Amino acid sequence: MSLAPKHYLQFNDFTRDEYDWVFERTRWIKEKFKRYDPYHPLFDRTLVMIFEKASTRTRLSFEAGMHQLGGSAIYLNTRDSQLGRGEPVEDAAQVISRMSDIVMIRTFEQSIIERFAANSRVPVINGLTNEYHPCQIMADIYTWIERNGSIQGKTVAWIGDSNNVCNTWLQAAEVLDFNVHVSTPAGYEVEPERANLYGTDHFEQFADPMDAARGADIITTDVWTSMGFEAENEERMKDFADFQVDADMMRVANAGAVFMHCLPAHRGEEVAAEVIDGPQSVVWDEAENRLHVQKALMEYLLLGRVEGK
Ligand code: CP
Ligand code: NVA
Repeated sequence: MSLAPKHYLQFNDFTRDEYDWVFERTRWIKEKFKRYDPYHPLFDRTLVMIFEKASTRTRLSFEAGMHQLGGSAIYLNTRDSQLGRGEPVEDAAQVISRMSDIVMIRTFEQSIIERFAANSRVPVINGLTNEYHPCQIMADIYTWIERNGSIQGKTVAWIGDSNNVCNTWLQAAEVLDFNVHVSTPAGYEVEPERANLYGTDHFEQFADPMDAARGADIITTDVWTSMGFEAENEERMKDFADFQVDADMMRVANAGAVFMHCLPAHRGEEVAAEVIDGPQSVVWDEAENRLHVQKALMEYLLLGRVEGK
């Protein structure tokens, strides 16, 4: 009888204790990598990456990360695999998980990745769905921790669309005990059920983005139109016009506040160029840390709590 594998489908799949572990491993793995010191705990293991949406960072960080850990990575997309021709996701999961050791999926509805995971013999990682982007927020929180220490009790201001990245910040606030100020245009508010939140204790909604930014330690935003919602683009451009993160917002944040963005970014839309290219921006560290946290994540899902030397 085989044990059910451990999956990472949304941020609250891990406890605070598990994040403490994964972040500590991230630090160790990153330092070793920076010293050009090889570390191959996943020698001979195979990661399959399934993309139903476009990607630069997620593909690169998972593929490079798996190689750096001694394994190999295979890229599949909907366009040129049977996934795009109607093969049931349950059947694909049975087959793919018999030929690989771990799977990463970027897709549309969260229910697709859940159905895949329910039929998979190996761990499944969420590489972005319409609802969540847990690997991104893991990297963002690690970016805060490595600069400042614990995120507990801090305040994150989310300005813009209450999308997959926003939902994941909200879940993270519950797991790691910090606060999120959210400011969205009317009609785009947080849906706590869709975000799968336990309650409303860790976030507060503000009509005016300046009020959300006041006293924040991290100010963050994302594109106004996420992948899969392109048909709404024109309307969204109008609805979000007053929700650009600009220098005035950064000024009312706490001293030492940073600007984060998961990227790709649109300067002049959700963020002013002077902010994303300015001294408070940590966007390149966030992008780099995708690599390091995901290596720690794959190590944890496949090997558990290994002690590195
Ligand atoms: N932030 C992020 O997930 O980027 P990609 O869409 O390029 O993977
Ligand atoms: N919210 C964006 C994130 C891209 C990394 C999207 O889903 O398109």
